[in-house]
This record gives sequence, structure tokens and C-alpha cells, in this order.
Amino acid sequence: MTAAVVINGQVLAEQVRFDLKDKVALLDKTPELAVVMVGHNPASEIYVKAKERACAEVGIISSQHHLEEDASEEEVLDLIDSLNHNRDVTGILVQLPLPKHLDEKRVLYAIAPEKDVDGFHPLNTGCMVQKRENAFVPCTPKGIMRIVHYAKEDITGLHAVVVGRSQIVGLPVANLLLQENCTVTIAHSKTKNLPEICREADILVVAIGKPQFITKEYIKPGAIVVDVGINRTDEGLKGDVCFDDAYGLASYLTPVPKGVGPMTIAMLLENTYQAYLKQNRS
Ligand code: GUN
Repeated sequence: MTAAVVINGQVLAEQVRFDLKDKVALLDKTPELAVVMVGHNPASEIYVKAKERACAEVGIISSQHHLEEDASEEEVLDLIDSLNHNRDVTGILVQLPLPKHLDEKRVLYAIAPEKDVDGFHPLNTGCMVQKRENAFVPCTPKGIMRIVHYAKEDITGLHAVVVGRSQIVGLPVANLLLQENCTVTIAHSKTKNLPEICREADILVVAIGKPQFITKEYIKPGAIVVDVGINRTDEGLKGDVCFDDAYGLASYLTPVPKGVGPMTIAMLLENTYQAYLKQNRS
């Protein structure tokens, strides 16, 4: 078995931004992404800066709305309400995680569905599951699908194993893989015989938040392996997959960093552009 092709998410994301920049320039008005952050989570601050930079690169305005750690739920909801009604604002993103005293679902569900560029509102989840045209697909699952398609155009009939069942990644990506005619298994922390199940995967998507958890006994030779983990360890950023093990077995493999992460941000830009078109249909 030869070494895996390492998929450079940064290069794929750059291509997305390149294409988007031209399309944004043709719009009558500049789209605006409003980013809401509550408190000072250091990782969130890094992600938000990266989102700001990416917006600037394609000509999307990004406005920052920073509330203190102890902001009340009413304050957050009032801010979202004013952004919902602000005609200059195209998309709204509330950076997660929120401080523990806030009800995350209540906050996310307050975002107007037509501005919900993260695709977390239940109306958008429902539209995605029902394959409705123009549904906002959450950014990380959308980016994962682009990566999978970079590796293989037609994935019909392949066995996809998704490890992780989060609302943000595992559940939606499993649904998208199913929509593309994969046979999908969703595995999680309670799954028995996880290595055996993963070893059956032609496409293995791992989003469990455990550094270097997936080792060689989990990987079928020739599999497409997508590592969604971003774990901060003493040795730096690590994925959920042991890169060296996967490198010798997989056909395609995403690294951490520079794999799924940049594609997530690129998809956020695409969703903001899509939101603009939706709101300005004549
Ligand atoms: N925090 C970690 N991932 C995400 C994401 O995709 N969207 C938002 N809003 N916050 C996050």
C-alpha cells in the first residue's frame, strides 16, 4: 500500500475564496456577517479572527459584537433581535461555546432562519434533512463533503462510518453522506466493537474530540479518512486520528491543522453569499 494523499484543506479553501471573491464583487451591495461572541474563550477568539480575515479576503464585511462573560440571556437575545432586523446584516453567527449560564438552544433558535449561516436553526436542519433547495447546511459538514468529493466524485454505495453524533458535525454529515447514497453507520462513545466497525469504512469521518484516538486497527486499507478533531495538547494541535498510522493505510487523509478547519470557514463565506442571494431574490 502506498502512502495516502494528504488533502490540503488550506489550498481547497483558497480556491473557494478565489471563486467567491468574484461573485461577491458582482453583487449590488456588500454582504455583512455579524459575529456574536460572549466572553473570552481563547480558542473562540482565534476562530473568530480567522473568520474575520477570511471575510475581508472575499469582500464580505464582518462586524464584531462582543458581550461580556456575564451577559444575561436577555442581553444576548436583544442583540440577536436587533441583528435580525438590521437590513445591512446578511448573516449572523453566534460563536460557540457560550458561557454555561446561557441556554445555547434558546440563543441559536432566536437567529432568523434566513440569516442562520451556521445552519443550526431547526428550520434549516429540517430543510437539509428534507433536501430542500437552498437550505443552509452547517459549515463543517458541508466542508467535509467537499473534501470527500475531492477524493472521490461518486461515492454511491460506499460504506461511510461517522464516529461522533454531535448536532454540529456527526448527525448532519451522516445525513449528507446518506443523501449521496452511501451506506452510513453512526458510531459513538457507547458503540461496541468500534475498531471492527471502523475497519469496514470506505469513508471514515472522525469527530469525537479525543486526540490520536483512531489508530491503525481502525482503518481499512485504501479508506478515505477525514479527521475533524481539533484537540489542544501539550504537543500542540492534534486531530482525532493518529496521522502516522493513517498515512500508511488510507488512500486520502486530512491533516490537523490545515485540513477540515479552513474548509469550515470557507463554507461560512459561501453560506453568507447564499444568504445574500436568498434575501435579495427579485
Ligand atoms: N464553535 C466551534 N465550531 C463552531 C461552528 O461551526 N460554528 C460556531 N458558531 N461556533 C463554533
